[in-house]
Amino acid sequence: QTGEQLASALPLPEPFRVPLPVPPVARPVAPGRYLITQRVAEVEILPGVRTPVLGYDGIFPGPTIESRRGQAIVVRHRNELPVPTAVHLHGGHTPPEHDGWPLDLVLPVGDRSDRTGHHGMTGDTSAGERDYAYPMDQRAATLWYHDHRMDFTGPAVYRGLAGFHLVRDDVEDALPLPGGERELPLMICDRSFAADGTFAYPGIDRAMRSVPGVEAEWTEGVLGDVVLVNGAPWPEHEVDAARHRLRILNASGARRYRLALTVPGGPDLPMTQIGSDGGLLAAPVVHDAIEVAPGERFDVVVDFSAVPVGTGVTMTNTLGTGRTRDVLRFRVARAAADDSFVPAVLSEVEPPVVPAGAPLRRFDFTRGARHTDWRINGRRFDPHVDEAVSRLGEVEVWRFVSDVHHPVHVHLDPFRVLRRGARGPGPFDGGWKDTVDVRPGEVVDVAVRFTDHRGRYVMHCHNLEHEDMAMMATVRTV
Ligand code: C2O
Ligand code: CU
Repeated sequence: QTGEQLASALPLPEPFRVPLPVPPVARPVAPGRYLITQRVAEVEILPGVRTPVLGYDGIFPGPTIESRRGQAIVVRHRNELPVPTAVHLHGGHTPPEHDGWPLDLVLPVGDRSDRTGHHGMTGDTSAGERDYAYPMDQRAATLWYHDHRMDFTGPAVYRGLAGFHLVRDDVEDALPLPGGERELPLMICDRSFAADGTFAYPGIDRAMRSVPGVEAEWTEGVLGDVVLVNGAPWPEHEVDAARHRLRILNASGARRYRLALTVPGGPDLPMTQIGSDGGLLAAPVVHDAIEVAPGERFDVVVDFSAVPVGTGVTMTNTLGTGRTRDVLRFRVARAAADDSFVPAVLSEVEPPVVPAGAPLRRFDFTRGARHTDWRINGRRFDPHVDEAVSRLGEVEVWRFVSDVHHPVHVHLDPFRVLRRGARGPGPFDGGWKDTVDVRPGEVVDVAVRFTDHRGRYVMHCHNLEHEDMAMMATVRTV
């Protein structure tokens, strides 16, 4: 990433001193029913400093929801925050009224103000609470949920509204993959801190009420100077000398990472990729490093028995500058038995088939004329305009064309990457994807196919500043 980083106004801690937190798993209030209260809370992120977060259940990351394929759940969100919200399950195969359409707001409890007429647009607004129903009719995968409110997704996620949602199924459970404490969700994001300990976000409208966008110098995307993993700055985690499964999520607004596992005086530890955004790959892929754009997930297995007990294995970000080159450190603490392994065949993922005559749609991701203006096909997001109307069950080729980096995300169903320009898919494009890293000047073709749910969805750039500044479009499924 080339842009400037927003410098924190507080002294930053030494890396690898605080333990890695693992977000608690949400407990259902009744079978298949969850309640999450969105509220402001003060948490200690930098040692000795209080930082207010907008938190699902007042924590950041929010509680991890674990669901099973085929077992529908309902998550009731109660909004005790001072601002409206909208909850999106990223990667969820979700009916439209539960997908967190950016104008389907959950108003703060007790807020009686009239929210219609937000840019002259209205949605299905709920007062105080909303039930999100998820069929969970989808493969096991690492999903995440986060705020998706019109114009303010960037600051809302920056201030804490993000959590994991892990879908499990029998196919995956039957594999001998590392589990229990050896399965770690890792939410990686960058943040900066103001002198008073608050998250520093250069939004134009700090109260997050009406004016979208960020100050002129940050419109390419806001980059922080502190790397948080599960909400802790450059944490350390003790591991057994054994295989571990790392579910890596880039929850940053704009920062891309190239992650490697460095070992003092030795070669980097390889990462065996077993899964992507939409669950298990067909077969494992070994990487020296992985590139992760905002919104993407990589499920990898690392064998810490390959280094001596006592070794510190550092996850580094070779795209970072200064402090953002470090991410976290694993300390290999003890020898341990390990009967896990990565099988040569992981799951059934057929190669993408594009029938002759499949529709081709082109989406141009470009900067607009004004600095607070990002566009798809020359247009700013307008919920009344359907940019694409797609038939359920039909394969279409979508062509993403970019000026600068744009991680493109499509709601409802995952897609397959067909090619990058004249070449085939890149090394990080395998399996089912819902977010694809489109690099400057690139043309990326993907095969999409929507199923089951008819209605109105969005596709957008997952650089959250670009998204808030209108780089989003409506997709209608019919
Ligand atoms: Cu992760 Cu439309 O969002
Ligand atoms: Cu973008």
